[in-house]
Amino acid sequence: MSRLRSHLSPRIVLALLVVVLGGSLIALSASVTRPELGTPEQQAAVRTSRDVTTLPLQSACTVVPAKELFVTDVSVVDDCLRTTWGPCVIGSNPPAPATQGAWTFGTRIASLAGTTDRATLSTFTLNWLHSWSTDQTINGDLVPKRQNIQSVVIDPWLAASGGSTLDMKKAPFRLLAIVARLDLRQNAGYSGGTTAGEGRFVYDLLDANGNLTQFLAIFEYGLDAADCSAVLAWANLWHGLGSHAFGPDYNAALQAVTDRFATIGASPRKPNGSAINQVRSNEIQLASPWELREFKLISNVAGSPTPLTENTVAQTLAFSLQQTAAISTFVNANAAAILANNYVVPLTWNGAPFRGGAAPNQLQLGWDGPTPVCTSITDPNVRFSFSVNTCSGCHGTTETGTVFKQVQPRNAGTASQLSGFLTGINGVSDFCGIQHNFNDIDRRRVDLCQLLAKSCTQVNSEPVITFVH
Ligand code: HEC
Repeated sequence: MSRLRSHLSPRIVLALLVVVLGGSLIALSASVTRPELGTPEQQAAVRTSRDVTTLPLQSACTVVPAKELFVTDVSVVDDCLRTTWGPCVIGSNPPAPATQGAWTFGTRIASLAGTTDRATLSTFTLNWLHSWSTDQTINGDLVPKRQNIQSVVIDPWLAASGGSTLDMKKAPFRLLAIVARLDLRQNAGYSGGTTAGEGRFVYDLLDANGNLTQFLAIFEYGLDAADCSAVLAWANLWHGLGSHAFGPDYNAALQAVTDRFATIGASPRKPNGSAINQVRSNEIQLASPWELREFKLISNVAGSPTPLTENTVAQTLAFSLQQTAAISTFVNANAAAILANNYVVPLTWNGAPFRGGAAPNQLQLGWDGPTPVCTSITDPNVRFSFSVNTCSGCHGTTETGTVFKQVQPRNAGTASQLSGFLTGINGVSDFCGIQHNFNDIDRRRVDLCQLLAKSCTQVNSEPVITFVH
């Protein structure tokens, strides 16, 4: 059915649904004709296009992005109870044990390893950090070591821990944001199964004096959903946060949501029982240039608990392939799927390694085939779509106007600044000169507004997308 559906225009699908569903006709037509959300085609494009130029983003819908989608408020990210190990002065009642430290980096690590055992967590974390200590070849791509991981991260953390075991309560990271990515949901037509998208925590490494650094990490957890009603339940959970005032009440409500995916054992069927999909890093603190990496719990890698292992970078090519025919032949052969954002950059293409081991970021990167530039890829919109979906393309100036970081490191007491890609930037001229407007938080707001108004039939006929971010 889902394969069939993808060949039918949305109008034909709607007509069929009208015939089949009869009684639910009123609810259906009410949501698809809401003028502030645009035509059905535009509504679908909210999830398949990064560029918001042709999307209707005005809407009377009550989604509050700062509370439901992208939370950076100081009352949250500096909440003494949840982002430190105390002591916190909070009236006469002691905090519930599961509250203190719930949003700390150390608690994130415990949720990945599936244990609170101090020695196990130390070994698990050191094993991850040592990914940077040696040269690695990942899918044929050489990822050079960045030995400063020892002096910049490991040694100060060990010193603060007072010995040779890393103490998770001394983890030198500051919380920047908690993010709902319901827009990354997939319906039953997706081969990976139904999911409500991701819940994310963004952190910045602190130096030995507690000052911010240029080393960011993001924990990206799956929001498990067995079916469409579970997807809608997640949407309503996040949406419910909009009615709380910032402060203790909001933070308790937010933790009730984050505890569903960011705690030990949240996803019993995944490695270590953790809901984590991947951890990603973005830094220049260890060595130049900026570099992005990706890590996963890969169940067939030996170790107990399953180690957090460096993996290829999703949707991103080995840097050595820039301006070679490998790119133009892949992009031209997959043009329709790339425009629809329903494609996966494979490990190999034409028999040679293709996906990258890491993503060095020289800032002004526009992925392209052989020179002269902007000639070997037939459709410049397809080239853009392919390039913006890479780590270095989206975290760079050429395609999105982003200066390496989407979320800025912050000092205590101030909120992180966000990129124009997230908060709105117009007229970004891409590598081949096409202008784009971005406003990703607003795009996600409209998407959540739409989702909340959808029936399961509508959710199950949404286009399958393969965004990684
Ligand atoms: C289309 C744009 C896009 C792509 C592609 C992308 N990112 Fe991001 N990245 C973002 C946004 C936006 C955020 C903020 C969190 C969010 O909105 O989910 C972010 C946040 C991050 C962060 C934490 C904050 C920061 O600004 O550094 C890291 C680390 C990161 N991404 C790594 C990666 C890696 C590794 C890849 C490739 C596998 C990647 N990103 C691909 C847009 C993108």
